Amino acid sequence: MTSPRILVVGGAGYIGSHMVKLLLAHGCQVMTLDNFSTGYRDAIVGGEFVRADLADRTALDALFASRAFDAVMHFASFIQVGESVNAPAKYYANNVTNTLNLLDAMVAHGVKRFIFSSSAAVYGNPILVPIAEDHPKAPINPYGRTKWMVEQILEDYDRAYGLKSISLRYFNAAGADPAGELGERHEPETHLIPLVLRAASGRAPDIKVFGRDYNTPDGTCIRDYVHVADLCEAHRLALTRLMQDGGSAVYNLGNGNGFSVAEVIAAAERVTDCVIRITHEPRRAGDPPRLVADASLARKGLSWQPRFDCLETIIAHAWAWESKSTTIPLAEGAV
Ligand code: UFG
Repeated sequence: MTSPRILVVGGAGYIGSHMVKLLLAHGCQVMTLDNFSTGYRDAIVGGEFVRADLADRTALDALFASRAFDAVMHFASFIQVGESVNAPAKYYANNVTNTLNLLDAMVAHGVKRFIFSSSAAVYGNPILVPIAEDHPKAPINPYGRTKWMVEQILEDYDRAYGLKSISLRYFNAAGADPAGELGERHEPETHLIPLVLRAASGRAPDIKVFGRDYNTPDGTCIRDYVHVADLCEAHRLALTRLMQDGGSAVYNLGNGNGFSVAEVIAAAERVTDCVIRITHEPRRAGDPPRLVADASLARKGLSWQPRFDCLETIIAHAWAWESKSTTIPLAEGAV
């Protein structure tokens, strides 16, 4: 059997770049498509790459005409919840319209397997935690709505065009390549763990804690942090399932353990052996108090077994990356 030919859309970004590395390690033929709007050329560790924009249907048609891909993995979306509230057009255009372009090009060229980066944001403010896949979907911001819209489009595309898809609803992606080659490089960075580590390394003066009056044991929000390498492994298992003609499916990806913001900061102090300065701020709009996954379906359906489910390991890998990043200047306007 020839090795699978995979198109990784957004392969220059945080999770996509780790995915490219994993697929190459498993002998896949990989092509990255990225427009470098938020990704980095030097994060693509191997395989082929094409610089193209998903808005450019002509470029997509040319690409699919030139290569016979077995599957497409789609990581290229905008991810900032707050920005999506202020600039919804940007989110609907990229996360929905551009994804439709990609799907339509796939359908036109007979590519029938798709793995989609969805999000816990589809659940909105959960009414039941841990959250299982059949929990009501009620996104509370445009970002979450774009993810839920694409999931629904995928159901219709399966029914009408036989396009098989697996949507993976990430909880809080975190950590970095255990080998230290890749890591999280969002600019501006908005995620908790990299910002806590910038405060530890001295690249930022402090960590701002958004709200300590939530109905949780220590008053700060609780999240389910899942290692980027484990997320990528779930994609690889999803690919195997689709290649074996498994049907479409949706899975949560999380460890099932919730940690508060205060617990994350305390764990980071232990891992880094640094004192981290905390500044208390009001709540950030749209933050649910508690998001924890019930990911038993992925464990069963994909035989997924997270390897790095210990918070301190996730932070240690992110810290190794942060320690390397201190030499990389931050983009203008970044924290
Ligand atoms: N937080 C702080 N200070 C910071 C950054 C974050 O206190 O400087 C807090 C947030 O208020 C939240 C927690 O840390 O309580 C985690 O925040 P992140 O921004 O790291 O992650 P979110 O839970 O907001 O977002 C994640 C994904 C989104 C997805 C969302 C689902 O990154 O893509 O989960 O609700 F939409």
